[in-house]
Amino acid sequence: MDRHKSLLCALRGEAVWPPPIWLMRQAGRYLPEYRAVRAQAGDFIALCTTPALAAEVTLQPVRRFGFDAAILFSDILMLPWALGHHVAYREGEGPVLPPLRDRAAVEALDSTRLLAAIEPILETVRRAGEHLGAEQPGAALIGFAGAPFTVACYMVEGAGSKDFAATRMMAYRDPGLFTQLIDRLADATVLYLEAQIEAGAEAVMLFDTWAGLLSPIQFRQYVIGPTCTIVWRLKQRFRSVPVIGFPRLAGQLIGEYAAVTKVDAVAMDTAMDPALVRAIVPLATALQGNLDPMALVAGGAALTEEASHLLGVVRGHPFIFNLGHGIVPQTPPEHVAELVRLVRAA
Ligand code: CP3
Repeated sequence: MDRHKSLLCALRGEAVWPPPIWLMRQAGRYLPEYRAVRAQAGDFIALCTTPALAAEVTLQPVRRFGFDAAILFSDILMLPWALGHHVAYREGEGPVLPPLRDRAAVEALDSTRLLAAIEPILETVRRAGEHLGAEQPGAALIGFAGAPFTVACYMVEGAGSKDFAATRMMAYRDPGLFTQLIDRLADATVLYLEAQIEAGAEAVMLFDTWAGLLSPIQFRQYVIGPTCTIVWRLKQRFRSVPVIGFPRLAGQLIGEYAAVTKVDAVAMDTAMDPALVRAIVPLATALQGNLDPMALVAGGAALTEEASHLLGVVRGHPFIFNLGHGIVPQTPPEHVAELVRLVRAA
């Protein structure tokens, strides 16, 4: 099934060569065609909830660069938004939310409204899937969600942060409340990802951007635990839909994360040594990553050297070429085209 989609083959454990490539945040401000649609939509939430526009920006990078995957255009904070928690995106400031600090706020998260609220996002998945089938039949469609800990970080803090101190303090001072929040988010994430799969997502990714802020004890509790629940429940219903986990900055705990959660692939952050990761994750776990987004901005010899080194290290292992974190807005689109050429010539 889907033998012609190299991304799905790699996720099922095949050492496809040259490896499939897509980039985290591949739809975004570095593309002039994205900026044009973004201006037309007005605010970011309007863009995410207008299926014609969201499907269009989902496809733009695949059309321009010929990537092996499209990722649903949405945001990890559309889940709290769909649970009735207010979310706004301010120009130059990032996301702003009312800080969640007590039991009443956790109990107010309303999963009965989830399916109705995410309907425009599911329609984006359907439309993007149809267009891909017609225009780019070799590219797979990836759905996604934030992992519970990272989503909780933004909800408790009320904004982005370097250290998410208020969130980590809540986890120590009121573990009962924090666990209740994580559990609710994990339940909602299962419903959200199941609905994306039913709408046509062929693989799903869990973004745990802030996982590496936690101590090992808390990493097991708030990253590995809920990820296990989510993967296990998804596999009960969709045994063959692969799950990619991105426990950013997990360090050596990525081995335990892969073994215990049974994700099909781990996405490595920029600091990880793929040779080491290869040795500490189960043999069947595919690797994804992890070119430094700044090497892509730099281009030239730096880009060639970093990309070639990475390709050399992962050869022979199931692998998906990607960045170690999201593409940054100052990235020249020609450097992305050059990277795709380099990878395809591997
Ligand atoms: O192309 C894709 O990867 C799909 C879409 C996508 C977005 N955000 C679009 C977006 C995905 C998968 C995300 C994930 C996401 N969102 C993460 C996890 C991955 C990571 O980068 O660590 C996180 C932590 C967020 C939360 C978030 N959303 C922040 C902190 C910001 C503001 C920072 C910024 O870059 O502006 C956003 C907004 C956002 N999400 C934008 C995009 C394209 C920029 C908004 C704009 O166009 O004005």
